[in-house]
Amino acid sequence: ATERDAEFLMFGATGDLAKRKLYPSLYNLYQKGTLGTHFVLLGTSRAKLNDDEFRDVVKQSLVHAGEKADTKEAAEFLSRFYYVQHDVTDKAHYSVLRDRLNELDKKYKANGNRIFYLSMAPQFFGPVAGYIKTEGLQSTNGGFNRLVIEKPFGRDFESAKKLNDELSKSFDENQIFRIDHYLGKEMIQNIMALRFGNTVLESLWNNRYIDNIQVTLAEKLGVEERAGYYDNSGALRDMVQNHIMQIVSLLAMEQPVAFLDSDIRTEKVKALRSLRVYDVAEAATNFIRGQYGSYGDEPDYRHEDDVPRDSNTETFVAGKLLFDNYRWSGTPFYIRTGKKLAGKFTRIDVVFKKPLVDIFAFPQSGEKPLSANVLTIFVEPNAGFSLQLNAKNNEPGFQTEPVNLTYMIDQAHSDQTPEPYERLLHDVLKGDGTNFSSWSEVAYSWKFVDQIRRVWDLSEPDFPNYTPYSMGPASAHELLERDHREWVYHL
Ligand code: BG6
Repeated sequence: ATERDAEFLMFGATGDLAKRKLYPSLYNLYQKGTLGTHFVLLGTSRAKLNDDEFRDVVKQSLVHAGEKADTKEAAEFLSRFYYVQHDVTDKAHYSVLRDRLNELDKKYKANGNRIFYLSMAPQFFGPVAGYIKTEGLQSTNGGFNRLVIEKPFGRDFESAKKLNDELSKSFDENQIFRIDHYLGKEMIQNIMALRFGNTVLESLWNNRYIDNIQVTLAEKLGVEERAGYYDNSGALRDMVQNHIMQIVSLLAMEQPVAFLDSDIRTEKVKALRSLRVYDVAEAATNFIRGQYGSYGDEPDYRHEDDVPRDSNTETFVAGKLLFDNYRWSGTPFYIRTGKKLAGKFTRIDVVFKKPLVDIFAFPQSGEKPLSANVLTIFVEPNAGFSLQLNAKNNEPGFQTEPVNLTYMIDQAHSDQTPEPYERLLHDVLKGDGTNFSSWSEVAYSWKFVDQIRRVWDLSEPDFPNYTPYSMGPASAHELLERDHREWVYHL
């Protein structure tokens, strides 16, 4: 691997995300030689720690991730971690961070390459980015200054725009890396390889041959300890606006001119521009919401800790998306996601049209009609894909039945697959924005989602409306039934 020089300033350095994902990912990059002698990280948060105590926090996080943290290599890695206690609203104190950054930059010869990582509560994104600039934390010697920002990016178009305007005062668009960790997942990145690397798929990838596309992000857990955040968000903002819209734009976009972040963004934005923003009536029929009920001893959503008893927050959403363009007109994209569903899995089902004439169907002989060809992309927990075709079976007479051509990444390989955060951090180090959400993508997807939210806020839902560990409310099935279709994955 090419070694990258980089000095990180980590806000939220003792937080959950940093400990669970970021430090183990940085360690993997260190072990692979992507980070090396010119890597250093300055951590900051409100906790009172010295460098050694902070190193211990990082060490524990490696242990927790299953790393051997007593090795010489781990010790070398940990020696590059430093800490300054800091209150992000304390403007005057940023000079302490600045001086420390400059010292460490010199010591580790990071060449002025700075990565500012905001792993913290979203209300601080704007102010912190502002202070990074006004208090002189950016390097000025020709190295790069990059801002990595976690979700959520606003809670509607307006707040997202305001945040973006704030960030733009300190960083240019190409210096801002908005994390959507789904874009770091192996099989999400594989969408482009499958589509643009295979004539047999891409030549059929349109409304003439595809009947509909289904995207399912199912979770088995309920809201857990995150109700404070989740109840203000709901499934639409938490999963649809970001992860699902990103997946859908990769499925819907035209072929990029080249495999470069700028070309890919152009095509994703074009796709999102042609996504139909619903009027009130369309939003009301094409999107449905749900909230989970109780199950045995498990409380319903409204009785979870920190959830108001009259909460109308949706823990499930399903919807139909329509692209008004030449490729997709008439071919809907159905999406669904929710908490407390039948399992934890993510999959994409591309349902092809059946042959116009089924020459094998003789109703009098009770012959089953042909099944649709379905390409299923399994994102998680197992990664791979499968193509369902019709073939003749070997019984007497002549009968067709569906068979699957399946490719699954085996355990040995999936153990070696980099975690999303490792890939994404690597991309930030390379300055490759392919797997991050650009402002235009965020803006278009909020405009779409806001319209659904607006309509939902006009009426009182009938909650709870689904049994935990099912695949959501009955209305999720009716959404497709109405169109004479069904979910490929159902119980
Ligand atoms: C996050 C959401 O973005 O994605 C969570 O805020 C959700 O509510 C999580 O649980 C799911 O991610 P993954 O990678 O576990 O599918």
